[in-house]
Amino acid sequence: MTITVSELHNRLSAAQEYLGSQLIGQQSLISRLLVAVIADGHILIEGAPGLAKTRAVNQFAKILDADFARVQSTPDLLPADITGTNIFQQNRGDFEFTPGPLFNNIVLVDEINRAPPKVQSALLEAMAEQQITTAGITRVLQSPFMVIATQNSLENEGTYPLPEAQLDRFMFYLNLDLPDAETEKQILSLVLEENRIKRNSHQSPESNESKFTATPLKPAVITAAELDAIKRQASNVHIAPAILTYITRIVCATRESDYKEITQHIRYAASPRGSIAIAEAAKAYALMNERDHVLPDDVQELAADALGGRIGLSYRAQAEGLSGRDIVNSLLQVVPVV
Ligand SMILES: Nc1ncnc2c1ncn2[C@@H]1O[C@H](COP(=O)(O)OP(=O)(O)OP(=O)(O)O)[C@@H](O)[C@H]1O
Ligand SMILES: [Mg+2]
Repeated sequence: MTITVSELHNRLSAAQEYLGSQLIGQQSLISRLLVAVIADGHILIEGAPGLAKTRAVNQFAKILDADFARVQSTPDLLPADITGTNIFQQNRGDFEFTPGPLFNNIVLVDEINRAPPKVQSALLEAMAEQQITTAGITRVLQSPFMVIATQNSLENEGTYPLPEAQLDRFMFYLNLDLPDAETEKQILSLVLEENRIKRNSHQSPESNESKFTATPLKPAVITAAELDAIKRQASNVHIAPAILTYITRIVCATRESDYKEITQHIRYAASPRGSIAIAEAAKAYALMNERDHVLPDDVQELAADALGGRIGLSYRAQAEGLSGRDIVNSLLQVVPVV
């Protein structure tokens, strides 16, 4: 069965529309989640508590018809808790491997910076190589495989900040902002209505209250075959040499001193993974916008999310409240487009 390009576009817009109805005011997060799953990327989301990080991942797993697991990170978490363990089978007298949560398509690692370094490094192999090695045996993870990690921006006590190598493995490093009053009101109506429906549906079926049970919105599911087709289509999106030059200029601007005013704040610059992330993401983003080629606009739209987390800032810049995103946004103002 072949799926036409316009059907793929329809699937993607239906998914965006459904997610938009469930995650109020989070269009950018929604687009990044879709871009990442199309381009085999992982996402780190930072934000204060209660900004729908967990909700976003739950809803996202629904539209993908994918397996979903959640890891709540704590300081006593062990690598085997996420990779899986060999469990002794008494009846057979040997060990059998029980897969851990990483053997799912979408893995939510909540509060990743509360996980000890050993767990974080077990995640490294899985994220970079899509495989896990335990007790000398390497097992390939299923596709799609996407880690969505969250960290809370308010609390730093008792946390293990992610090492640079780990940050570099995320396609996007996103920051969620608090909603404005209008958005807050919409969130409130949505969640109150959901809670009302949930409580009413707990009534016995004969109860009169059941007439209040509205049909919940159906997720617009993208099947595994459709996702494969979408990924293929995105990989064939054209990216002109001039666009590659533009991406290279942006990434290299984080390394050299042409723009000293801006780069003096940088302690370590973005690696080639940064330019790969922008280019791959831009192709997926172009497809989502129903184009067969990448525009400089795509690069500008994604650069801060792709590079912000890969740039280390001087302590002074951090103290002044600058972020990696700010640096990238400043560079975008001065780096010439093609
Ligand atoms: N933009 C939004 N759209 C819809 N619901 C929202 C939105 N923002 C917050 N909520 C609601 O707020 C509550 C908190 O969301 P959730 O548990 O996903 O937050 P979180 O970011 O994971 O928080 P924590 O960091 O504490 O784990 C949920 O009831 C969720 O439905
Ligand atoms: Mg949460």
